[in-house]
Amino acid sequence: MTAQDDPKPAPRLEVRSLIRRFEGRAVVDDVSLSIEAGQVTCLLGPSGCGKSTTLRMIAGVEMQDSGEIYVDGKLICDTVFRVPPERRQIGLMFQDFALFPHLSVADNVAFGLKGARDLKRARVEELLNKVHLKRFIDGYPHELSGGEQQRVALARALAPRPRIMLMDEPFSGLDNRLRDGIRDDTLSLLKEEDAAVLLVTHEPDEAMRMADEIALMRRGRIVQQGAPYNVYTRPADKAAVAFFSDVNVLQAQVNGALADTPFGQFLAPGVPDGTDVEIVFRPQHVKLDFDRKGAGPLPTASTGVAARGVVQRARFLGNESLVEFRMDVDGALLKATVPNVFMPEPGRAMWLTVRRDRCFVLPVD
Ligand SMILES: Nc1ncnc2c1ncn2[C@@H]1O[C@H](COP(=O)(O)OP(=O)(O)OP(=O)(O)O)[C@@H](O)[C@H]1O
Ligand SMILES: [Mg+2]
Repeated sequence: MTAQDDPKPAPRLEVRSLIRRFEGRAVVDDVSLSIEAGQVTCLLGPSGCGKSTTLRMIAGVEMQDSGEIYVDGKLICDTVFRVPPERRQIGLMFQDFALFPHLSVADNVAFGLKGARDLKRARVEELLNKVHLKRFIDGYPHELSGGEQQRVALARALAPRPRIMLMDEPFSGLDNRLRDGIRDDTLSLLKEEDAAVLLVTHEPDEAMRMADEIALMRRGRIVQQGAPYNVYTRPADKAAVAFFSDVNVLQAQVNGALADTPFGQFLAPGVPDGTDVEIVFRPQHVKLDFDRKGAGPLPTASTGVAARGVVQRARFLGNESLVEFRMDVDGALLKATVPNVFMPEPGRAMWLTVRRDRCFVLPVD
């Protein structure tokens, strides 16, 4: 049989047009997703946008008003037919995960396992090894730190080899430094176990770090979906840019398919004359030059025209410095980030240019 004859297997998890209304308001509004085995998709969006509700419907603890859920191509839930949560082979890990305090670490991990005692013990040992907690196998939850408990909870969720893992802000109770390590460990374990993972977070950094694919959600809808690089570099709209970083916004009006700004003209192909647009760019795509007796750098094709601004304040953030400028031409405030330490005095004039290939010309929403 050739690859052509080989029908593409159904995705591990597929969700079609899920809708959930509370008091007449659609809090999940036509959400569709598809996740392969071994793939991590992050559902990313601001608080209240419907992430947890989506997850709860997939887990089976909340009923949708319409839409279907499939696992490996088989319907597990629509508005009529419904496989109960415990038979969905879905692992769950929520923010407020709780280990059973009266059970040992081994018994916690073995909780969802069936079968012979020695097989269960072997699976428990395998998983505790993978989360580097084998030495605590006969200990109790209260003897573990928060991060260690989190890893036990992960081992417990993965023990029955779920086909799908649903994780709702599972790292939010941890401090920053601990979190990075646990995220990385978790990710490699999830990949080894080959589950399809849907991870909910409202933190862009977490999504960028964990996801093969990001589904950006807002007001119940998925507004953009794709690999982290694509979502970051080709955002669907201004809110999608702003969700990942600070942004700068220039207002302009289109005339002859061009938008005039202090940084020169931007192409706005197909946009009718008189339309208001915004030119949106991130602070890291602003380049700074020193003022040389009132003159700045010459215009180039990649950076356009330079505009002069006066430093308002500068802050050191660790990996980079954030400098705010008030622009001479219109008094607008713009932000620039510079790698490492760069702390110019307030009042100092500098010239700003922007990387044109990193600017988004967007209709005003
Ligand atoms: N059982 C319920 N009854 C009424 N409204 C609800 C119910 N469950 C959720 N909601 C509402 O639905 C909206 C979406 O809630 P959801 O918990 O899915 O948000 P979220 O994206 O997970 O937010 P967060 O990041 O804060 O956890 C919220 O406005 C919430 O108040
Ligand atoms: Mg939530």
